[in-house]
Amino acid sequence: MKAVVGSPCALSKNLASHLGYEFIPMDVRAFPDGEVNPRIVLEEIPEEVVLVNTITQSDFNVNRYLVECLFAAKNLADAGVDDVKLVMPYLPYARQDAVFRPGESYSSRYVFELFASLGVKWIFAVTTHMHRHETFLSFVPGIKGYNVSGFVPLAHYLKDNFNLHNPFVLGPDGEAGKWASEVAEIVGGESYSLMKKRDRTTGATETFGDVTVLEGRDVIIVDDVISTGGTVVAATRKIEKAHRIFVAVVHGLFMKGTDMLSGATMVTTNTVENPFSRVDVSAAIAHAMKQV
Ligand code: R5P
Repeated sequence: MKAVVGSPCALSKNLASHLGYEFIPMDVRAFPDGEVNPRIVLEEIPEEVVLVNTITQSDFNVNRYLVECLFAAKNLADAGVDDVKLVMPYLPYARQDAVFRPGESYSSRYVFELFASLGVKWIFAVTTHMHRHETFLSFVPGIKGYNVSGFVPLAHYLKDNFNLHNPFVLGPDGEAGKWASEVAEIVGGESYSLMKKRDRTTGATETFGDVTVLEGRDVIIVDDVISTGGTVVAATRKIEKAHRIFVAVVHGLFMKGTDMLSGATMVTTNTVENPFSRVDVSAAIAHAMKQV
């Protein structure tokens, strides 16, 4: 028997259905002091478990989420499951994919090493910010990573639902350029990326670049994460006379609330459930799992 063990959300249930695996709900109890206790009841020991845990925008706590995933993986290992594949649609600590200043933690590597030490064989995540380890197939010995594109289902959703007019896809910073071209290829049209400079000490950012000749066009701003919203808001200020503005983001964290943009249509995936989660990524994850 093969099973998806997961938080009882649409993404986990849909993934089980795409894979044709049994779905076993995982219950995560949280105590008032913040401690968590994932509970997984197995009637028999599956030969393979796909462990899925998700996080929501309304209750976003990345450290608690990581501990839930670690404890659940250990719980399965202790129960005798040999083949555990972990799905963390939003991969925490992916931004710290190098040591940028002496003495800092190499957080993304530590996360992989922790799961490897628990016998997890694979981590599947959606559009991570690990630019320096794009495929992260062999990032850490003993565990493999798979970076599933969240932009493919996002782009198809936009193309299928909005009758796009002469689309122009805009990355709000240099790193988003490759995502902008990925989306442009699906919706049709060109792509371009602005530049963003970040002060490593204060975290303050500034956006450079000019986008002109957008009159009458549908502009789609794409990014992997919307956290405070500062990056996409700065990008919208560069746009004049567009027909419509769409903001298409894979992970909608919305740490400062959801109403920072007016006059733009916001669309995100369901990697982090939020009021704009229109696009389900379970089929893309299932497709990736079938490739390995
Ligand atoms: C960083 O470069 C990322 O790709 C995003 O642009 C960034 O995390 C967005 O953060 P915020 O919404 O706070 O500007």
